Amino acid sequence: MKYNWHSKTKLQAIFIPLVVSSLLLLVLLPSSAAPLGKTCLIDRNCDEGLHCETCVADGDIRPRCTRIKPTDPKSKGGSDLPFNRYAWMTTHNSYAKIGQKSYTGTPTLAPMNQQDSVADQLNNGVRGLMLDMYDFLNDIWLCHSFGGNCYNITAFQPAINVLKEIQAFLEANPSEVITIFIEDYVTSPKGLTKVFTNSGLMKYWFPVSRMPKNGGDWPLLSDMINKNQRLLVFTSKSSKEATEGIAYQWRYVVENQYGDGGMKDGSCPNRAESPSMNTKSRSLVLMNYFPDAPNLAAACKENSAPLETMLNTCHNASANRWPNFIAVDFYKRSNGGGAPEATDTANGQLICGCNSVAQCKINASWGQCQDSPKAAPAGFGQQKTKSNASAGGRSLLKWCRMTMMSMAIALSLL
Ligand SMILES: *[C@@H]1O[C@H](CO)[C@@H](O)[C@H](O)[C@H]1NC(C)=O
Ligand SMILES: *[C@@H]1O[C@H](CO)[C@@H](O)[C@H](O)[C@H]1NC(C)=O
Ligand SMILES: *[C@@H]1O[C@H](CO)[C@@H](O)[C@H](O)[C@H]1NC(C)=O
Ligand SMILES: *[C@@H]1O[C@H](CO)[C@@H](O)[C@H](O)[C@H]1NC(C)=O
Repeated sequence: MKYNWHSKTKLQAIFIPLVVSSLLLLVLLPSSAAPLGKTCLIDRNCDEGLHCETCVADGDIRPRCTRIKPTDPKSKGGSDLPFNRYAWMTTHNSYAKIGQKSYTGTPTLAPMNQQDSVADQLNNGVRGLMLDMYDFLNDIWLCHSFGGNCYNITAFQPAINVLKEIQAFLEANPSEVITIFIEDYVTSPKGLTKVFTNSGLMKYWFPVSRMPKNGGDWPLLSDMINKNQRLLVFTSKSSKEATEGIAYQWRYVVENQYGDGGMKDGSCPNRAESPSMNTKSRSLVLMNYFPDAPNLAAACKENSAPLETMLNTCHNASANRWPNFIAVDFYKRSNGGGAPEATDTANGQLICGCNSVAQCKINASWGQCQDSPKAAPAGFGQQKTKSNASAGGRSLLKWCRMTMMSMAIALSLL
């Protein structure tokens, strides 16, 4: 007994400091950043614009640095192209954040489609937001409901909270343009006008009168920025264009089928409300790519190679136009480049005729593509992920294993 007790304290005296110091080392040491695809332990191990996660659905259990931010197209192609010559990463049900408690105080049973707040999404380069708005509790709420009615168990929060996050972002970032797609269940008179006015967003409103009606080019991005008309709002209710000056979405945008119906390989049908994808009297193209039921685990796979493939399919179906909005669930999830890379692909094609916006150069002629050391190799994550971990990644992994082992030993002894 005495001996055991003694040896246990001795072991504790050895192992506890070891565990603590290895953990400290793990957190502190590898803050030297790692590039795309390298193994990692926490987000801080990765370069700017990347975070650390696994994609088990794709057979890769090692956490790796994967992209969460698209390249700012303005930094590569300038802002002197019409708005319809840019692509924007877009979040489906942007407000339906995992773990978000309903402001009604009731647990939310509605599906969740994203991992972070709208403010965080905007900081990561999301520029298209899909928001479902309902009349609820004498206000306008973000809600994920059915039958046109919001209930406590499907309600998220008053829309004004999120609209204020958007207002704060536009205020702090005077060169950014945001597009909101409203799935509109609001029937209260001028309900949307009131909530946008109260959130301080009207000063950024892009007027319907300036939207091209017959397939023409949009104003230049730089012009929208200079005039401070940096918020585009589309509603799913056609009457509101006349009554409230809110653009009816499918008068300006073609959009493919959302949900499972939009994920069938090789086809890009329009959703029922939209004209067919090749309708050129609509100048903007919106591509949805997410399943009926949001799936956090599978999203990393879906947001990778299949998303890029669908981008091509929808381009072909849309009279050879690249999507301007690429809408996904869990935009941060991928096995490498994900939705940010798909957005870069579309921007490369739209802005300079190259495979990625990373290859565009301001003032270069069309199709004159520059090498981009930072561009991810094609098909990243599909074949490369398992075999080619760097030396840095390996040593990090060793650290990880060592810590796990020491922790296991220490715990069994405590
Ligand atoms: C829904 O939530 C509101 C706000 O918390 C509350 O006043 C109301 O009683 C709730 N309704 C039901 C049916 O639980
Ligand atoms: C799109 O069209 C091009 C040219 O016709 C073709 O080479 C390509 O395979 C098509 N891509 C898809 C995904 O349908
Ligand atoms: C692009 O061209 C314009 C007009 O010729 C010029 O004013 C501008 O400085 C150029 N920008 C760059 C980055 O070369
Ligand atoms: C591994 O990656 C490095 C650069 O990241 C590359 O030079 C090398 O060819 C790759 N090796 C294999 C086996 O793919």
